[in-house]
Amino acid sequence: MQSRRGRMSSPVVAALLIAASGGCSGPGSDLGAPEPVPWVDLAPATDVNPDPNIVEIDIEARAAEKAYLPGKTTAVWSYNGTVPGPLIDAKVGDTLIVHFKNSLPDVTTIHWHGVRVPNAMDGAMAVQTPIKQGETFTYQFQLEDAGLFWFHPHVAEDVQIQRGLYGVIRVRGPSEPTADDERIVVLDDVLLNKDGSFVDVIDDDIAMLGREGNVLLINGVTLPRLEWRAGAAERLRIVNVANGRFFNLALDGYTFHVIGTDGGFIPKPYDTEKLLIAPGERYDVMLVAKGEPGAEVTLMDEPYDRGHDTGKAPPMALAKLRVRDEAPIEGRILPGSFAAIERLPGAPADTTLVFDEKFVNGKLEFWVNGKMFPDVPPLDTITGSLHVLDLQNDAQMDHPFHLHGFFFQVLEKDGVALPDNALANKDTLILPQKSTTRVVARFDRPGKWMYHCHILEHAERGMMGEIDVSP
Ligand code: C2O
Ligand code: CU
Repeated sequence: MQSRRGRMSSPVVAALLIAASGGCSGPGSDLGAPEPVPWVDLAPATDVNPDPNIVEIDIEARAAEKAYLPGKTTAVWSYNGTVPGPLIDAKVGDTLIVHFKNSLPDVTTIHWHGVRVPNAMDGAMAVQTPIKQGETFTYQFQLEDAGLFWFHPHVAEDVQIQRGLYGVIRVRGPSEPTADDERIVVLDDVLLNKDGSFVDVIDDDIAMLGREGNVLLINGVTLPRLEWRAGAAERLRIVNVANGRFFNLALDGYTFHVIGTDGGFIPKPYDTEKLLIAPGERYDVMLVAKGEPGAEVTLMDEPYDRGHDTGKAPPMALAKLRVRDEAPIEGRILPGSFAAIERLPGAPADTTLVFDEKFVNGKLEFWVNGKMFPDVPPLDTITGSLHVLDLQNDAQMDHPFHLHGFFFQVLEKDGVALPDNALANKDTLILPQKSTTRVVARFDRPGKWMYHCHILEHAERGMMGEIDVSP
């Protein structure tokens, strides 16, 4: 394993990292400090089907405009004209029907991240011919799990998702916790030039860590201000849709009460001061608002060392949270437990996937087992089989591993078993640099299922593979 530190400390990278952290050089560096704007909730999709158990919607991918920088226009790609796209609200057991039309000047698909769909609906290149401009496709499947999921293209993901193609699916279960407010928080960042246009040359230096932006977004706006009532139980359902940025959330004076993650509620909620969310991951958290009327705290994205000398960037403001001028609510208690989830049995690993990055002839490559997708040999298995995988990250940076079609559970990290109360259904997981994480999954649906790093520049540069589950 050769160190690439020398390369990473090149002036270009240094400048970009400074720019991305609000410093003073690099593209879009003097964008200025943002002013708080009102909080924006996601626009709900229109359900055209009167059947209470069917959610049927139209989604069109098309060009649109955003004003990410004051007075400047950014040409984006959107679902139904908005970024994020329409919020799909449903309940467990509902059938979702999406009539999709591609009006982009490029081919695309929709992948339903985290939703356990039939293989033909997965939108990945292994199972779907990309939809051409002007063409349509109907996605239809049942929503089996409660949780927060999201959807995005599975073609040129690094380009298409950054341009704005992403949206959220919220699936409610039979027993949701009581909250005074529930907010969806879509975390993103974009890398913009001063004129508002996207920086579109992503060289190896930027791709190394995954493209980070110089403008942070929540629900498509910068620095929104959320008003809440003292004493209120607030539920925040968070997804990170950024290409490469890990968000490390901190809220002064608060801890985050984590009640769920990718695959829904966790049996044993826990409290954490920092909430680290890699691209693709979701966290469901609650907290009780506090303070005098007018009191304001800032939700921060704190530095986190994910390798290659990251972790020294200054903290960045994400949102303002202000207490409304109302009498406080008394006595709210946050949930202490949720229904058990089936624990998959542990066993020695039967498969090892090794993740790494290398410069080959001066070109940056991301590897699985020494190969770049599509040269990574598919893993073969049969429907219903259980597999224990060692996910070995030999790289000098964290890679968030995402598996299509199935949840997995972490058994151990570097040989240390996870405590019982850490049980969770995950579909995206941070593999820390130089570590091995053992996970288990039951491959209970046939098809060709992708797995990949959810740093999109890494996936597009080879860190991707396929699991073929035969009937
Ligand atoms: Cu969210 Cu294969 O991706
Ligand atoms: Cu990666």
